[in-house]
Amino acid sequence: MHLLVNTGGGDAPGLNAVLRAVTLSAVRRGFKVTGIHRGYAGLFEPEGEGLIPLTRDLVRGITDRGGTILGTVNKGFAEDRCAAVVARCNELGADGLIAIGGDGSLRIAAQLMDHGLRVIGVPKTIDNDLSCTDETFGFDSAMSFATEAIGRLTSTAEAHQRVMVVEVMGRYAGWIALYAGIAGAANAILLPEINYDIERVCAAIRHRFETERPFAIVVAAEGACPVGGGFAVKAREAGKEITLGGVAQLVAAQIAERTGYETRSLVLGHLQRGGTPTPADRILALRYGGEAVRLAAAGRWGEMVAWHPPDMRSVPIKDAIAKPKSVPLDSDAIRTARDLGIALGD
Ligand code: F6P
Repeated sequence: MHLLVNTGGGDAPGLNAVLRAVTLSAVRRGFKVTGIHRGYAGLFEPEGEGLIPLTRDLVRGITDRGGTILGTVNKGFAEDRCAAVVARCNELGADGLIAIGGDGSLRIAAQLMDHGLRVIGVPKTIDNDLSCTDETFGFDSAMSFATEAIGRLTSTAEAHQRVMVVEVMGRYAGWIALYAGIAGAANAILLPEINYDIERVCAAIRHRFETERPFAIVVAAEGACPVGGGFAVKAREAGKEITLGGVAQLVAAQIAERTGYETRSLVLGHLQRGGTPTPADRILALRYGGEAVRLAAAGRWGEMVAWHPPDMRSVPIKDAIAKPKSVPLDSDAIRTARDLGIALGD
């Protein structure tokens, strides 16, 4: 069997661990694996440049490396390229593709399936917003980094008696904000799933300063929206999803103006995507990679590996991309945040 493998969309800690598990699992079955450089672009790069034979040697020692040895692109993909991509895969004698990506990349994979390509999906994204799997790899690393950052901000907030507003990634889902906010003992968490009322946020901060301690941490998901308002948008690029950003600065200015407390904001940005994966992400990524090859060997094309603790299972790729996975408002995590006295802006 000849398997192609690619990494698409924003990078996430654990991509290299998946590549290592895919390669080793395939090679020990006698399969050939070829990595595609930078999404699908490598298929059309000059001979010897865009296609990377994945061998035991090439994937040695990469489990703990951030980024992806294949490179990736986070740009739009025109559907009219599908036929050319599938034709090129056939020309290469590929039996199928292992597509490692988030909802955008798996949507492209589903389009390629409609054009006849055989695909196995692996769910990647720090945002954790893919349905049908308990957790995507990359999330734990991003959430752990954000938690550590909140801890660091807490000591400086306390020293200066300030409000610190920290913006985390997650696109339209609040998983990173909620989990890092709870783990880091934030005082308020603003999520895309709950429109925030700035006056309620300020009331919670005033209450904290007056009755508890004179400093506060607010975690704002980049996709958080005020009641009656929209997303804070950093950039709009043709053919690409909007780039979110700026909510922390906005909220910080409003808090400073309404409460009079000294307030600072910062954006954690791509620091959340870089660096070594946590041990939990390494294990998840390796298990995803191993299962992806087992699915290919069993001819289970069209499926995405899915983590249903304690088991690795699979679901149709089309089910996983049917709708994004948001934080359920009735989840115990939300109820726990409220019970801990964390303001959610509602
Ligand atoms: O989907 C992953 C993610 O990091 C989002 O959390 C964020 O909104 C987006 O990608 C940033 O994209 P880019 O790397 O293109 O700036």
